[in-house]
Amino acid sequence: MSPMELYEKLNAQGDKVRSLKSAKAEKAEIDAAIQLLLKLKVNYKQMTGQDYKAGCPPSENLIVSNNGPTADGSDGEDVVDPWNVSASSAKGVDYDKLIVRFGSSKIDKELLDRIEKASGQRPHHFLRRGIFFSHRDMHQILDAYEKHKSFYLYTGRGPSSEAMHVGHLIPFIFTKWLQDAFDIPLVIQMTDDEKYLWKDLTLEECHRFTVENAKDIIACGFDVKKTFIFSDLDYMGASPEFYRNVVKTQKHVTFNQVKGIFGFTDSDCIGKISFPAIQAAPSFSSSFPQIFGGKKDVPCLIPCAIDQDPYFRMTRDVAPRIGLLKPALMHSTFFPALQGAQTKMSASDPNSSIFLTDTPKQIKNKINKHAFSGGKDTVEEHRKYGGNTEVDVSFLYLTFFLEDDEKLEKIREDYTSGALLTGELKKILIETLQPMIAQHQERRKQVTDEIVQQFMTPRPLNFKF
Ligand code: TRP
Repeated sequence: MSPMELYEKLNAQGDKVRSLKSAKAEKAEIDAAIQLLLKLKVNYKQMTGQDYKAGCPPSENLIVSNNGPTADGSDGEDVVDPWNVSASSAKGVDYDKLIVRFGSSKIDKELLDRIEKASGQRPHHFLRRGIFFSHRDMHQILDAYEKHKSFYLYTGRGPSSEAMHVGHLIPFIFTKWLQDAFDIPLVIQMTDDEKYLWKDLTLEECHRFTVENAKDIIACGFDVKKTFIFSDLDYMGASPEFYRNVVKTQKHVTFNQVKGIFGFTDSDCIGKISFPAIQAAPSFSSSFPQIFGGKKDVPCLIPCAIDQDPYFRMTRDVAPRIGLLKPALMHSTFFPALQGAQTKMSASDPNSSIFLTDTPKQIKNKINKHAFSGGKDTVEEHRKYGGNTEVDVSFLYLTFFLEDDEKLEKIREDYTSGALLTGELKKILIETLQPMIAQHQERRKQVTDEIVQQFMTPRPLNFKF
C-alpha cells in the first residue's frame, strides 16, 4: 500500500468511527473500529515518519525507514542510504522492494519505448538490462519534450579521494548517453564541501580531488559546449542565484525532517544538517542564470544511483512550496563489490574495487583473486550442475560493460549449463575491462588543466529553449 492509499484508508476509517458513534452502535463494535484506526495510524507513522492528520495528505514518501520491519510487511533488511548499502541476500539489494519502499516507479517496457521514440535512439544497455531501473516523473519529462520543451540534466560526485573506481563511472556513462540522445545541457555538482564536512580531509584536499575527479568525468566524453562542472566551494560564493535557492530550501526543511530522512543526530555538525539544501539547489534552473537566462521553469532530470534518492525526496517535497519545479529522476542499481553483490564498491577498500588507475596486471589479479564466483567448487560439479549468474560478480560486471546482448546471453547460457567454467568467465571479463580502462587512461591524459578550467567556468551553454 502506498502512503496515499493508507492515508485514504485512514480517512475512511475515521469516518466509520464517527458514524458508528453518532448511530449509537454497540460499544464493542465502536471499540473494534477505533482499534483498527489506531493500528492504521501506527502503520502510517512508520511508513511516512509523519503523524496522520485528517486533511493533510502525506508528502511524497519523504522518510523511509531503513531498518526493521516496514509497514508493508516486507522484512526490509536491506539498508540503502547515502552512506550505507548492504543487502541481506547474495543476489544483492531487492530493487523491486526498494521501489515500493521509496515510492518511485519501475522503468518498464512502455517507458523504454517512449524514450526510444522521443530520442530516436535505441535505449542504452543500462536501460535494456535494468541497471537504471527506477524513476520519478519521467513521463512528464517526455510529455514536455515531445512538445518541444527541453530539459536539462543534473548529476554529481562527492570527491572523497583521487582514486575513482569503475563503479563511479556508471552514472556518468549513462548521463553522457542521455546528453547525446536528447541534445541537452548538463550540470555536474562536485560536492567538495560535503566531503570536507563528512571526512577527515582539509578544504584544500577536497578541492584538489574535485579537479582530479573532474578529469575522469570529462574523459567520459562530455561536450564542453553543453556541460558545466562546478565545485560547491567555488560556485556557492560566486552565484547569488544559487545561494538564494539554497536558503529558500533551508527555510522549508526542519531539523526533524532531516533527522528522519538522513538519520542526523544532535551531535552532527550543523554543516551536515544544512548540506542537503546544497545538493537540492542544482535541481532548479534558476540556480544557473548564465545557462538558462533566469528561467525558473526548465525541467530537470537527475540520473543517479538510488542511494542519493533521499536528497531528492526532500528536494521534491520542498520544490512546490518555494514555487519551483520538482526534479525528475532516474535511479541506477549499485555497482557490486568484487566480493559480492551484498555491498557496493568502495573507494576506501582497494581489494573491493577496480580503479581507473589500475594496470592490466592489477585488473587481472584482482578479478582472479577476489571476484566472487557463482561457480561450483570442482570442475566436475560445475560441468554437472552449472554456475549461478545471479550471484557471480564477473557475470554481473559483464552486464555493465559487455555491450553485445547476444554475446552476453550466450555467456549466461553457457555458464548456467556448466559449459563455461569460472576461470573462462573471468578471462572474458578481464579482456573486456583491460582495454576499456586503458582507453579511459588514454583519454584522461588528454584532459589538461586548461580543459578542466573551461568546463568549470560559469558561462552560457548551447541550449535551445
Ligand atoms: N552526494 C553525492 C556523492 O557523495 C554527490 C552528488 C551531488 C550527486 N549532487 C548529485 C550525485 C546529484 C548524483 C546526483 O557522491
